[in-house]
Amino acid sequence: MSPQRRAIALTVVFVKLCVLSVLVAAAQTPPAPLALPDGAGRELAERTCSQCHSLELVLRHRLTRRQWEAQLDTMIAKGAKIADEDFDPLAEYLGAHLAPATAD
Ligand code: HEC
Repeated sequence: MSPQRRAIALTVVFVKLCVLSVLVAAAQTPPAPLALPDGAGRELAERTCSQCHSLELVLRHRLTRRQWEAQLDTMIAKGAKIADEDFDPLAEYLGAHLAPATAD
């Protein structure tokens, strides 16, 4: 092999190793933790709201307490089992921690 071809071959191997190490690093990065914000009612919400879809879907929304109440009703209509005594704590938690940004 000529020195030039050897240099090219080594470069190719080097580039492949670089790409590989980037891929390995990406694969090892842990996924963002899927948890709801801290607060009273968090565990109840995580337990109740992760049964049919990801919590990510919940986290993507910013609603007022009233809108969350409506959302809870929608979820119940879709089959969510939400006990009467859990309804208010859930609405309270969601309204407090996943509220629309205040425009100030
Ligand atoms: C019985 C199953 C079930 C449970 C339990 C449930 N959901 Fe849902 N939810 C659905 C379905 C079905 C959809 C619509 C389909 C989809 O996007 O996956 C949905 C969609 C949503 C959406 C998106 C609505 C939109 O307009 O984009 C939000 C927000 C949501 N759910 C919040 C909640 C919250 C908060 C809880 C916990 C209190 C909850 N869900 C529990 C079934 C459920």
